[in-house]
Amino acid sequence: MSPSANHIPYICKANAKEPMSELIPDLDILIPTDKNLEPEARISADTSTGKQRKLYIESYGCQMNFSDSEIVTSILLENGFDTTSQAKEADLILLNTCAIRDNAELKIRNRLVHLNALKRQKPNMMIGILGCMAERLKSKLLEEEKSVDMVVGPDAYRSLPELVEEVSDGRKAVNVILSREETYSDITPVRLNSNGVTAFVSIMRGCDNMCSFCVVPFTRGRERSRDAHSIVAEAQDLFDRGFCEVTLLGQNVDSYKWESENGELKVNFAQLLEMVALVHPDLRIRFSTSHPKDITDEVLYTMKKYDNICKYIHLPAQSGNSRILKLMNRTYDREWYLGRIEAIRNILGEECGISTDSITGFCTETEEEHQDTLSLMDIVKYDYAYMFAYSERPGTPAAKKLTDDIPAEVKQRRLSEVIAKQNEHSLERNLLRVGQVYKVLVEGTSKRNEDELCGRIDANCMVIFPKENLKKGDYAMVKILSCTAATLKGEVVSA
Ligand code: SAH
Ligand code: SF4
Ligand code: F3S
Repeated sequence: MSPSANHIPYICKANAKEPMSELIPDLDILIPTDKNLEPEARISADTSTGKQRKLYIESYGCQMNFSDSEIVTSILLENGFDTTSQAKEADLILLNTCAIRDNAELKIRNRLVHLNALKRQKPNMMIGILGCMAERLKSKLLEEEKSVDMVVGPDAYRSLPELVEEVSDGRKAVNVILSREETYSDITPVRLNSNGVTAFVSIMRGCDNMCSFCVVPFTRGRERSRDAHSIVAEAQDLFDRGFCEVTLLGQNVDSYKWESENGELKVNFAQLLEMVALVHPDLRIRFSTSHPKDITDEVLYTMKKYDNICKYIHLPAQSGNSRILKLMNRTYDREWYLGRIEAIRNILGEECGISTDSITGFCTETEEEHQDTLSLMDIVKYDYAYMFAYSERPGTPAAKKLTDDIPAEVKQRRLSEVIAKQNEHSLERNLLRVGQVYKVLVEGTSKRNEDELCGRIDANCMVIFPKENLKKGDYAMVKILSCTAATLKGEVVSA
């Protein structure tokens, strides 16, 4: 099938019908042909073990937040709650929130209007705000949103059972203390929305980078790495329970650094990757997010050494212009970034999937500087991109020191240009794959057609193919027959 213009969908996760596995924040990507597909919030499923109270948890934002909701659920299941998928049935409603851009917070404010209506019908219902918006606004949220009973930051989830009791006693409860140690490493997450095949394993928390536009260091606190043994044990346990792929999560996985208490064992990210890869050759490993300043050749060689480490790197550039990168405090310039891309291509070859995050209209960005982002894209030819218009976040270094001076229409127009370019490149990259045979891990049935399965190739592209006798969790060799910018279509050549 040759790709036709109306077959070229937009490259955006909001449009993806299949599950995605990157560390991706809420998607407010604007696409000219967008059907306004809002990213779905993840909600809890129904469990019924005879507990007295019901928890409904709805999660927004990035994969770290989804992963945290699994920890929160685990804590509350141990403390007298079952989960429900129906907010109206809940005794406790938790919204795990994101603060990365203004519209992420707006979404939560709108959601609270609906939940207020529910609470009017069921006055004993408790509503709690978790996550990054809770951390950013702290007790101000209680003042601004009268229906909210509880505000809990990302490092305070262990205190949830006590906070719930406080609220049950008629008080409002807040815990937004950030920690330098908390990694929840001893808590086994309860997998929510799981396909039973792929799972996320948090390897670190927080971020020390201070990119000037970013609220994360303020909402998630200092960077800390989780005990390497507990990560390997979690990966082993997932494999033993039938999972076939783990994605190691952190805001900057390349700065993972853990030392045993006696100082005898020191583990960096490349070593951790190796430890997890050794769990079993049939367990696929992915990771996100890599930082261009920190990704080492050692990581790239470790990826090359193990077949089960997927050849895919999410390496956000943010901008292709060195002056803007400096203002963003990304601590690398265009040349450094391109040097890292060259290293990836030299060590892992053309097949390795590469994706980026891009911000348009950052403070003082000129038209020429925007063109540098487009020209960087032309050089790298990303497989995917997550693209955003700059949204000033109160309290960040950019908000304090720089002026958000690019008009909204200009930011949006630049964003459309970046998106259009990415669509071309995604299609170009996928077309190279037509005719090739790839190993695919079956993730489930395609949402569009019951007779088809979906799964990913190493480079993270989604492939749709006829079911044959395969099922979730199987590996299959699939020949690619056609593609759009977003998806590959193929047929099984051997299982
Ligand atoms: N730790 C990851 C990214 C986390 S946030 C990294 O360093 O790449 C995910 C993405 O959201 C960022 O890469 C950036 O592209 C985007 N983003 C963050 N703050 C933003 C802001 N204020 N306005 C627009 N986009 C932003
Ligand atoms: Fe934010 Fe930068 Fe940290 Fe990523 S590395 S979370 S963009 S401060
Ligand atoms: Fe993630 Fe949003 Fe927080 S992107 S770290 S949930 S601000």
